[in-house]
Amino acid sequence: MGSTLKMVGIMFGLVLFLAISSVGATVSYDDKSFIINGKRKILISGSIHYPRSTPEMWPDLIQKAKDGGLDVIQTYVFWNGHEPSPGKYNFEGRFDLVRFIKLAHQAGLYVHLRIGPFVCAEWNFGGFPVWLKYVPGIEFRTDNGPFKAAMQSFVQRIVGLMKSESLFEPQGGPIIMSQIENEYGPVEWEIGAPGKAYSAWAAKMAVAQNTGVPWIMCKQETAPDPMIDTCNGFYCEGFHPNKPNKPKMWTEAWTGWYTQFGGPIPYRPAEDMAFAVARFVQNNGSFFNYYMYHGGTNFGRNAAGLFVATSYDYDAPLDEYGLLNEPKWGHLRDLHKAIKQCEPALVSSYPTVTWPGKNQEVHVFRSKNGACAAFLSNYDPSFSTKLTFQNVQYDLPPWSISILPDCKTVVYNTARISSKSSTPKMLPVGGSLSWQSYNEETPSADDRDTVTKSGLWEQLSVTRDSSDYLWYLTDVNIASDEGFLKSGEWPLLTVMSAGHALHVFINGKLAGTVYGSLDHPKVTYSGKVNLRAGVNKISLLSVSVGLPNVGLHYERWNEGVLGPVTLNGLNAGTRDLTKQKWSYKTGLRGESLSLGTVTGSSSVEWVQGSLLAQKQPLTWYKSTFEAPGGEEPLGVDMMSMGKGEVWINGQSIGRHWPAYTAKGSCGNCNYAGTFNEKKCQRNCNQPSQRWYHVPRSWLKPSGNLMVVFEEWGGDPTKISLVKRTT
Ligand code: GAL
Repeated sequence: MGSTLKMVGIMFGLVLFLAISSVGATVSYDDKSFIINGKRKILISGSIHYPRSTPEMWPDLIQKAKDGGLDVIQTYVFWNGHEPSPGKYNFEGRFDLVRFIKLAHQAGLYVHLRIGPFVCAEWNFGGFPVWLKYVPGIEFRTDNGPFKAAMQSFVQRIVGLMKSESLFEPQGGPIIMSQIENEYGPVEWEIGAPGKAYSAWAAKMAVAQNTGVPWIMCKQETAPDPMIDTCNGFYCEGFHPNKPNKPKMWTEAWTGWYTQFGGPIPYRPAEDMAFAVARFVQNNGSFFNYYMYHGGTNFGRNAAGLFVATSYDYDAPLDEYGLLNEPKWGHLRDLHKAIKQCEPALVSSYPTVTWPGKNQEVHVFRSKNGACAAFLSNYDPSFSTKLTFQNVQYDLPPWSISILPDCKTVVYNTARISSKSSTPKMLPVGGSLSWQSYNEETPSADDRDTVTKSGLWEQLSVTRDSSDYLWYLTDVNIASDEGFLKSGEWPLLTVMSAGHALHVFINGKLAGTVYGSLDHPKVTYSGKVNLRAGVNKISLLSVSVGLPNVGLHYERWNEGVLGPVTLNGLNAGTRDLTKQKWSYKTGLRGESLSLGTVTGSSSVEWVQGSLLAQKQPLTWYKSTFEAPGGEEPLGVDMMSMGKGEVWINGQSIGRHWPAYTAKGSCGNCNYAGTFNEKKCQRNCNQPSQRWYHVPRSWLKPSGNLMVVFEEWGGDPTKISLVKRTT
């Protein structure tokens, strides 16, 4: 009786709210769903981050998303790509946001624009420009004047751009919702009052933009009205928004997970992905977004989160190269068809739930006008079951949901896949490449282009992230009466670094390399070093592998050699080098000469043939090649190399690090049972990333320049171009 009353109340509220919220607005919402031009919708969405592919790939990706049954494309907006220096904006090439949104519109899709501007996203510095850190008095993501001013000015800039191009739905454009902040809930919980004040400000500031479409704050239970709080995760069926008038939305349904250098490649079985979505929808969910639908590539130095790999494939329905990842793409397309068949019932009624047997659950949506849709579930992870519904018996595989859009016929079961699997192959194309090499010299403290001071500097404060590399250079005087010179008991050099990798050179020769991992970004070098009487040159090359993108006040995290740096085993015991005079040089010589570009590469003398450097650290390689024929996406096989970066015709395709082998467990993976990012992994004991995407549109028919900077030493003659086929 009580529940019937509650139901009537909700129905009344729903009708009333619909009446109010649709006045004068083309996009609104209530507890049931989004309402676009008066029509309630179950919205199926997928994330495609525009800078993680090329404009030439966008039409195809968007079409494949549409063919896969999506209604909405979701993307973050990447502040550091759009405002590389204060007030200097960039909306070109891969950052042509307007073009991307217009392409989605032309394909007949809506857009969810997550302006952030904090995006997390395994993107360098979580999307914030590095210069932001150096605005006086700034503190990120809290009630801080300078931060709020910068954030507001960027949000206004983006909203202004969208409005000027008429991209919001009430203007006739595709954007039906926006997002401010990202997963602020945990931060607010941690910092308390200033967090609350900041989020109240952010909500108010967003609403004041007058976009005419609703705003979302994801993973934030405390999201102030009218912000819609939403769920992110592997499953979201149990989520409830913080007010009864808000729809149940899942902004990030994780289709897999990201790969890190040093880790295996995570994947999520299609059956479990479909199960999670069906479970969400049967529990009254009306918007879900696959994060990612196409993950793509972290070109250049955009990968972050420390040690995030260049590939951001994510096991998404469209693979890194834009090809269908089957059976996932097809299995989800079939799910979307089934859900759309249920839509009339889903948007006009609430589910009645019954439990006919152990681990069995039935959700029935029955609307007043006679539409009926049923979802039959088996939650048992091991056993199939026979479930009786309306006197008919249905067979359900373990951990699965059957969908009956007319309450009679099963059109879909989440564990029964009818799409064919695809196996991607990387086939060598174009024969062997011919290489030339150029040695990057180890600088010394007295070089003209160094700066000198006492003590050790934090890396980012010197480089401002203009390069991954910072040289720490100092001299050590060894008296001729040092005992070790006679005994041969070399002194022990210890260098403590806040991360992420470190090469130690003594008198120009590599003494050793250490590198961290996502869990342990800090590194310590400790080794006996061969010093001579007189002046010795100690050159430390500290290497960053992406700035953090998440964590409380991640802008305060340090990188680089912070010390102590000590020399142990001298006549006087230990000598502390930490506070002595150090000289600094940002970046590599090859970087300042732009060796990755056609003009830059002709500014130095390269060697080849028998003089070609092999297995030598700090070496640049270059080669030219013809564009392979055909249409297949291309990549480069870097198996024979160590670590560094690769450029094609002057554009960086990202960091390579095939020498970092994947550690983890790669056992069998059963789709059934609760998923997490460590459950299903492949590629253990192989390079975390062997192949690197070369966008076809970056090539011309012939005379293409490939430049590789190799930090560790490798064999370039084994590098080959490959095409990806399935
Ligand atoms: C979420 C975050 C995303 C992304 C994801 C992991 O918490 O909102 O931006 O970082 O985790 O891929």
